[in-house]
Amino acid sequence: MWMVFVLIIWGLMVGTESSTLTSQLEMEANAILNSGWWNTSLAYYDISYRCNWRQISCNNAGSIININIDGLDTSMGGNNFETLNLSTFRNLESLVIKYVGLQGTIPKDIGLLSKLTHLDLAGNHLKAKMPLSLGSLRQLKYLDISDNFLQGSIPHELGFLKNLITLDLSLNSLEGAYGSVYKAQLPCGKVVALKKLHSFEAEVPSFYESFRNEYMEKGSLFSVLYDDVDAVEFKWRKRVNIVKGVASAISYLHHDFTSPIVHRDISSGNILLNNEWQPSVSDFGTARLLQHDSSNRTIVAGTIGYIAPELAYTMVVSEKCDVYGFGVVALETLMGKHPKEILSSLQLASTQSMKLCQVLDQRLPFPNNAMVLLEIIRVAVIAFACLNFNPSSRPTMIRVSQSFATELTPLTVPLNEITLQQLMSEELKALFHIVNH
Ligand SMILES: *[C@@H]1O[C@H](CO)[C@@H](O)[C@H](O)[C@H]1NC(C)=O
Ligand SMILES: *[C@@H]1O[C@H](CO)[C@@H](O)[C@H](O)[C@H]1NC(C)=O
Ligand SMILES: *[C@@H]1O[C@H](CO)[C@@H](O)[C@H](O)[C@H]1NC(C)=O
Repeated sequence: MWMVFVLIIWGLMVGTESSTLTSQLEMEANAILNSGWWNTSLAYYDISYRCNWRQISCNNAGSIININIDGLDTSMGGNNFETLNLSTFRNLESLVIKYVGLQGTIPKDIGLLSKLTHLDLAGNHLKAKMPLSLGSLRQLKYLDISDNFLQGSIPHELGFLKNLITLDLSLNSLEGAYGSVYKAQLPCGKVVALKKLHSFEAEVPSFYESFRNEYMEKGSLFSVLYDDVDAVEFKWRKRVNIVKGVASAISYLHHDFTSPIVHRDISSGNILLNNEWQPSVSDFGTARLLQHDSSNRTIVAGTIGYIAPELAYTMVVSEKCDVYGFGVVALETLMGKHPKEILSSLQLASTQSMKLCQVLDQRLPFPNNAMVLLEIIRVAVIAFACLNFNPSSRPTMIRVSQSFATELTPLTVPLNEITLQQLMSEELKALFHIVNH
């Protein structure tokens, strides 16, 4: 009796669930049809195969999770945003409609897309105000609505977007109260990214100064390293911790998103330090999302001295360019100056036979604590691995942060005798878990 009862209940539940699913899929199909955005009388836009269209992807149940329309979809130019019934797509995680001349306003229903992590509407003709409902998108990590015709003030509700890591509202006619920068924090509270909103303001030096003093008291890693007074304050433990913090911020950008965010301009000038010597990676002026289905070719952007060598001839941007930039910053932090001489002569026996203690920042006393010295050696081994000329031989940033998280094992070699050649050896890379394969 009980068994039958339980089975009936179970049957009802499964039934309800699958009919809810069917009607969800039907509603999505209708919303796509009614939008008029796709010419569904064409064979390749057969609505039953919408999950296979270039612009759409679905979860296993067939519900739409990504809509991605970009400049390649020339036939979609001039569509009106309001004809797409957004509230239907309750499983949507990523909505990218960029550089297609999208018309109209941002519908306030956008706030109903509670799973949205990615919203990119850059380069369209969107008008009027930003809807306050954007503040309901609590999962949002990436928001780009730059280069439109938006007006009015920036809603305070954007402050509710605690997961936001990058925000670009530039090239609109928006008014600030809000100020002109946006601070993005990791869920643990650590600031990892700072983005300027209006490029014209960023060009005014006094604005930049005040931005720094609001947000980042110590200034950039660059300014600290190149100031003899600050540099002496900036002791070994602090330096090691900053390198670790930068590694985890970049790893977050590369690995915690559906599409990795490649910063493209990792340099000591773009790492800001707060009062507690905690770093954040700033200035996403050149950051770009890697869409795995599109070409990664792009113009070279970055700071001379930190640009990965392959960019000089292939122009293919990948996460490994940031890994290279990180390697330069890590070595620079240990040496107290840019490692350009070492980098340009790495193949020479005379460089390889140099001792680590000769290249460490001479303004600080040689570390007398064996544990601190071991930490420094680990930073150096990781830095050299990241500076590998061959991008595929560089470790991923997640591997780098994992290596920093493992417990240190004492070395048998005398630490103050260690040479650059040893730091680059497979043996030490393996010991610090920095080998890719
Ligand atoms: C849709 O495609 C059909 C078949 O090519 C064409 O005849 C029709 O004009 C198109 N409709 C629109 C609105 O472009
Ligand atoms: C949009 O779709 C929802 C169902 O997902 C429906 O209730 C609503 O009436 C639709 N709105 C319009 C304007 O068609
Ligand atoms: C773009 O880069 C990603 C990540 O590095 C890679 O997986 C993808 O294959 C690249 N795409 C092309 C077309 O090169």
